[in-house]
Amino acid sequence: MESILQGKTVVVTGGVRGIGQAIGALCAQKGANIAVPYLGVDPAPALEQFRSFGVKAEAYECNVADFNATKAVCDKIVADFGGVDGLVNNAGITADKLIMRMTEEDFDKVIAVNLKGAFNMVKHLTQTFMRQRGGAIVNISSVVGLMGNAGQINYSASKAGLIGLTKTVARELSSRGVTCNAVAPGFIATAMTDALTPEQQDAIKKQIPLGFIGHAEDVAKAVVFFLENRYVTGEVIKVDGGMYI
Ligand code: NAI
Repeated sequence: MESILQGKTVVVTGGVRGIGQAIGALCAQKGANIAVPYLGVDPAPALEQFRSFGVKAEAYECNVADFNATKAVCDKIVADFGGVDGLVNNAGITADKLIMRMTEEDFDKVIAVNLKGAFNMVKHLTQTFMRQRGGAIVNISSVVGLMGNAGQINYSASKAGLIGLTKTVARELSSRGVTCNAVAPGFIATAMTDALTPEQQDAIKKQIPLGFIGHAEDVAKAVVFFLENRYVTGEVIKVDGGMYI
C-alpha cells in the first residue's frame, strides 16, 4: 500500500544525524521529500542517503532558536518545495548539571533550542498548514520530560514544555485538519551512548524492562505513525523499552 507520505514534503529539524537522520530516511523511503534545518554537522552524508530513495532533499543551515532565521528558512523551504506537509521538531541539545552547578546560560540555551526552537518552527509554518487545510507536526520530547532526571533540570523542563506545546497546538489547529503529537524516547543508541563503557551500558540496561537500548529506527517508526495517521492528535507515545511505565 502506498504511504500518504508519497510526494509530500517533511521538514525534520536536525535531521542530519542520529534520530533525526533515521526519521528523514524512513520518510524518504516512504516517498517524502525532506527539508532539513541543521546546525554544526555536515549535512552531505544524510542528504545523500535521503536522495538514494529518489526524493528531493535539501539542508538549510539555521539555528532553530533564532526566531528571524527560522522564519527565513521556513519561507525558503515553502518556496523550494512548493509547500510543507509534515514538521518534525527533532533538533535538541543537552547541558547537564545538578542544579547547584547549573548556570543561567546552561538553562537558557537548552530551553532556547529545544522548546523555543519548536515554537519558532510551528509559528512560521502554521500559515502554510492552515492554507493547505492539513499537516502533521511531531515533536521529539523525552521520557525525562515525563519522569524528571537528576542533572537535567533544563533538558527535562524543555521536554515537558514540548508536551504542553504539543497539546495546545493540537487544540488550536485541529479545525484546520492539522495534527500535533509527541514522541518521548528513552535511551536510544547514538554516538553518545556508543561512547559509554560496557559497565555504564549495563547500568542503563538494568533500568529498561525490555533489557536493551533502543535504536533510532524505533523512534522513526513512531514518528511516521503520527505523520501517516490523520485521526490521532494531542497524543504522546513513549519509545523507551518500558523504562517509564
Ligand atoms: P544528536 O545530537 O545526534 O542530533 C541533534 C541534531 O540537532 C543535530 O543534527 C544538530 O544538527 C541539530 N541541532 C542541534 N542544535 C541545533 C540548533 N540550535 N539549530 C538547529 N539544529 C540543531 O541528537 P539525537 O540523540 O539524535 O537526538 C535527537 C532528538 O531526540 C533530540 O531532541 C533529543 O533531545 C531527543 N532524544 C534523544 C534521546 C537519545 O537517547 N539519544 C532520548 C530522548 C530524546
